[in-house]
Parts: sequence; C-alpha cells; structure tokens
Amino acid sequence: MGKTKIGIIGCGMISEIYLKNLTERFRNIEVGGCADAAQAKAHERAVQFGILEYSVDELLARSDISIILNLTVPRAHVEIGLRALEAGKHVYSEKPLAIDVAPAHELLQQAQKRGLRVGCAPDTFLGGGIQTARKLLDDGWIGEPIGATGFYLSRGPEAFHPNPAFLYQPGAGPLFDMGPYYLTALVSLLGPAKKVGGFARKTYEKTMLTRPDKYGETFDVEVPTYINGTIEFSSGVIANLTTSFDMQFPYWESKLPYLQIFGTEGTMTIPDPNKFEGPVQIRRSNGEVVAVPLTHGFTENCRGIGLSDMAHCIEMGEKHRANGEMAFHVLEIMSGILDASSRSEVVPMTSSCERPQPLPRVMPNYLYD
Ligand SMILES: NC(=O)c1ccc[n+]([C@@H]2O[C@H](COP(=O)([O-])OP(=O)(O)OC[C@H]3O[C@@H](n4cnc5c(N)ncnc54)[C@H](O)[C@@H]3O)[C@@H](O)[C@H]2O)c1
Repeated sequence: MGKTKIGIIGCGMISEIYLKNLTERFRNIEVGGCADAAQAKAHERAVQFGILEYSVDELLARSDISIILNLTVPRAHVEIGLRALEAGKHVYSEKPLAIDVAPAHELLQQAQKRGLRVGCAPDTFLGGGIQTARKLLDDGWIGEPIGATGFYLSRGPEAFHPNPAFLYQPGAGPLFDMGPYYLTALVSLLGPAKKVGGFARKTYEKTMLTRPDKYGETFDVEVPTYINGTIEFSSGVIANLTTSFDMQFPYWESKLPYLQIFGTEGTMTIPDPNKFEGPVQIRRSNGEVVAVPLTHGFTENCRGIGLSDMAHCIEMGEKHRANGEMAFHVLEIMSGILDASSRSEVVPMTSSCERPQPLPRVMPNYLYD
C-alpha cells in the first residue's frame, strides 16, 4: 500500500499535533510540505518537523500532493478548500466545515463536480472511547436510545490559546468551536437530526487574554457564549446540548457529564468527545455503574486518524468516515440552533447523512504504528 502525499495549509497551534502524528505514526501518509499566509509560521513548522516549506500557491501547484490538510482559521476554511479543489486535490479541513451553511454547500458541490473528496474534523469520534460507545450501543447494551444530553461548560480559550480572537468570531464561539465534537459524536452514534430548537445569549461584549505572555489584551466577543440547543433525531431520540465559554473558575467545575445517552435498558456515559480516550460507563437495571473495558484502540491524541482513514478509503474506493456530508449536517445543526434562537422557532434540517462505518476492532498495521 503506497503512501498518500499531503500538503498542510495553516501552521498554527493545532498543526503541531497533526504533524507529530502524520510524520511519526500514520504509515499511509507522507507530508509533502506546509504553507501558511504567514510564511514565518510555515518556516517554524518546517524546521521543527524536517519538512518542506512553500508559499500557499507553490504548495497548491505541486503535482505530487493529492490531499490538502486545511488547518487555517474557520473563516478561511472554504476559501482554501475551494482553491485545493480547483488545484485538483482532495481536501480535509479542521472544523467547522465552514462558518455558514451556504459556502459549505458550495464546497461539497464543487468537490462532487470534480470527483474529489472532502473530509473534516473532528476525528475524535474514531477514538477508542466513542468507538467503544458505538459498539455498546449497536450491541444493545442500553436498549433503544430515548434521549441524550451533552455539556461543554468552560472559561473559553483566553488562558491557553496564543491568538484566540477568532474563537469569539463567527465560525467559532462555544457552539461552533466545541459543538462539532459533541454533535459529530452524537450523529455518528444516533444518526442524523430532523429538527432543532435553541436559546442563545452573549454574556460579555469583550474578553481578556489571561496567558502570562499576553495578559490583559482584550478583544470583542462577536458570537453567543451560552447556548442551549435541542435536537430531535430522525430516529426519534431527543438530545440537548449546552455549550458555554462563560464559566468562571472555580464555578465551571460542574458535575455534569460530557455526554450521556439514555436507553430503554440503561444509561451510557460517554467520555469527553474532544478526546480519544475512555472511560465509557454503563448503568443498567441493577443500578451498578460499570466502566467498560474499551473495545477499540486509538486512545491517545490521534488527530489525523480521520485524514489517514480518508487516504486509505480513497485508495480502496470506500466511503471515508470523517466525511464532508456528516460535517455539513453537523454545521447545519449548529446554524439551526442559532437560527432557532434568533427567530424563536424550530428549524427543520434540510440535510442528512449516514452513520459512518465503525472502525474495525483491530486496526490494520499499514495504517498506524
Ligand atoms: N488550537 C486548538 O486547540 C484546536 C483544536 C482543535 C481544532 N482546532 C481548529 O484548527 C483550526 C486552526 O486553529 P489553530 O488553533 O491552529 O489556529 P491558529 O490561529 O493558531 O493557526 C491558524 C493558522 O492559519 C493561518 N491562516 C489563516 N488564514 C489563512 C489563509 N487564508 N491562508 C493560509 N494560511 C492561513 C494563520 O496564519 C495561522 O498560522 C481551526 O479551525 C480550529 O477550530 C484548533
């Protein structure tokens, strides 16, 4: 099985773990080079990982690169994605697929027209935690799912991100930044959504960086920061999802679970969908809470597994798991929740998607070291 050569556009914070995994662990990928609108960023990563550095135009012009890994900020995802497709390359993007539904639709249409693939993060749903939850659910351990609940309650990225302003702009905020992890997990477990409702508020007009090196810098909050969404899935399952950047330490240490699914025969508690690990807990009729041994591997930070799977599936002519169709559906759910809030009405979904195939229990070693 040959290696697929990929090129990275966007060499900021998240590029480090991708590059680490793609250069050290995913055997079916070769990194053919990196680029960034800020050349110094590309240079830094090129030196760090011993890879080639290009301008964005040069990288897109390389005929040996077949997939562009788009790690730019959300407002640039579609622009870079379309340029990659125009250059005849498949594209795998960080989340969200776009900051709005219409440009994301255009991206998928262009890909389809050209016979190219679109993939999209998050790929944490391919980790051992959520793949184990999928197996338990499919094997009937909690019976028929009835409802689900998800909570992301935090102080936001002011303390850890070097340049977090984009995380308070359209395409981010707690719903668009963290919602994709929760909603991709839920859609991969429960299938597509039918309609959504929502309430949202913006709590602060400005926020302040608290990283020691940038302490005191302020920037505008442009998006809602406390959002309650309700989702009715096509299967009839009803879920609620609360996402917020408003929680102040130490109050944000809530005891609420990340994700839970309630079924006719039990409750499943699912680990943080922003991570790959466990535990997965089941509570059934005897009341005992059991942490289930994970059925699948990939329990450490495996960002890039979705891209590796996409490259493999392109070679095999199969549908890749972290695909554009599911990312589009997740984007429509998020947009719908905000629309529901601003219009005070329930918003039906126009898109749908299939549940991605579960990963095999034992991964072929041509994919991963
Ligand atoms: N930082 C995290 O912890 C994290 C985690 C998971 C996912 N993500 C996602 O990864 C993406 C990038 O986040 P980040 O934290 O690395 O951001 P970042 O700001 O650290 O890096 C983004 C990089 O993209 C470059 N860029 C922006 N627009 C560009 C364009 N048009 N052409 C070329 N380069 C461009 C910037 O110069 C910057 O170097 C976002 O979609 C984010 O949601 C980030």
